[in-house]
Amino acid sequence: MGKKVEWGRSVEEWIQKYPLLKKMRAYEPVFWMNPHKDTVANVLPTLPLSWKDVLDAEERWKRFAPLIRRLFPETEERKGIIESPLKEIPRMKEQLEGQIGRRIPGRLFLKCDHELPVAGSIKARGGIYEVLKHGENLAVEKGLLSYEDDYSVMASERFREFFSQYAVAVGSTGNLGLSIGIISAALGFRVTVHMSADAKEWKKNLLRQKGVTVVEYASDYSKAVEEGRRQSDQDPMSYFVDDEQSKELFLGYSVAACRLKKQLEQADVPVDEEHPLILYLPCGVGGAPGGVTFGMKLLFGEHVYCFFGEPTHSPCMLLGLMTGLHEKARVQDFGMDNMTEADGLAVGAPSGLVSKLAGKWIDGVYTVEDEELYPILAMLKDTEAMKIEPSSSAALLGWKRFVENPQVEKYIPMEKANHIAWTTGGLFVPEPLMEEFYRRGKDHLSKE
Ligand SMILES: Cc1ncc(COP(=O)(O)O)c(C=O)c1O
Repeated sequence: MGKKVEWGRSVEEWIQKYPLLKKMRAYEPVFWMNPHKDTVANVLPTLPLSWKDVLDAEERWKRFAPLIRRLFPETEERKGIIESPLKEIPRMKEQLEGQIGRRIPGRLFLKCDHELPVAGSIKARGGIYEVLKHGENLAVEKGLLSYEDDYSVMASERFREFFSQYAVAVGSTGNLGLSIGIISAALGFRVTVHMSADAKEWKKNLLRQKGVTVVEYASDYSKAVEEGRRQSDQDPMSYFVDDEQSKELFLGYSVAACRLKKQLEQADVPVDEEHPLILYLPCGVGGAPGGVTFGMKLLFGEHVYCFFGEPTHSPCMLLGLMTGLHEKARVQDFGMDNMTEADGLAVGAPSGLVSKLAGKWIDGVYTVEDEELYPILAMLKDTEAMKIEPSSSAALLGWKRFVENPQVEKYIPMEKANHIAWTTGGLFVPEPLMEEFYRRGKDHLSKE
């Protein structure tokens, strides 16, 4: 009854209004085109963020590059810029076409955030950025740093001592916790990661090895965030990275668009009316795919299309956008259980900030079943020698869903379209576990 008052309708009434909910509640994969979509020109003036904020974030990353290079030698090759390659995957495409039964026009690429250095997932973009910005604010405020300095001074004992007075906290399904934990510990902050029940053991162990305090919850992600926020708020020296509400995280992700633009030019991929670019982005709470969408739409306007992929058991962004309930849409309240092996995507309620900042630019949302994740992971290893974690498979499944769906031709001229599946995590998965994922995928494929 309480929910009905808050939502203005009972679940049954919502189902009547949005019949797709029936399929979603039965955990059937769906493909939803966003009827609320609007143009960049119409939406931009209504938003609190603009291109200037993205550029400001990119400048901050550049200021920090000498420090990152010093702290994380694996970033040496890119001189302290944390970035992933864009790679075309023709062999994988051919295999997928074999499953579909026809040739699909256009090139298929992976944006390889599964190889992203330092934290091994897309969450590095937002998480590391926000902690760096916080560190910069503190150091500038106390007169220890000016914007013109060589930021590698922050790797010194003096700075570590300074940062050790302060704490950083975050709630996470795993990968955001890794990125916040790793960068905060490297700078010298005291850091606590509140992990939901979905978080994998190896992610918690890795953090503990780095000196991070890990608090475990038997409940889902929203609870871990709520509890983490509550505890952090009690300590005036503690800063909470809020995955559900943070503009900083969002901007950290958005910078990916500037980098991708250059990579597209290098790969000779035009993006214009004749050559649309279609992105498939795995979605949890929405920050990472939302930030990327924001940057890409600002750069390419109506020529880029962004589709979000969610597990059939956790379609929170779809629920929030479709009903207009945004962060008030909890999949559990609609009879779905939020249980999925795609741990990074196991989120029951979407970020209100993202659905408001990027909701009208999201072209659509599709859902994927857990069992579909493993065969994709195995095929990618066999065809392209790339290793991704299960959540990342949701990206490639987007391409498959998309090209199999006849209704999309009505919206997007497909003949000369190019496609990017954004593989969001994988680098740090321990080898025995990766082997287990692979076996599972192979078993599945042998039964097909
Ligand atoms: C591997 C992976 N992919 C995608 C996502 C989705 O990011 P977001 O929760 O910001 O939507 C996550 C989130 O943790 C993740 O770990």
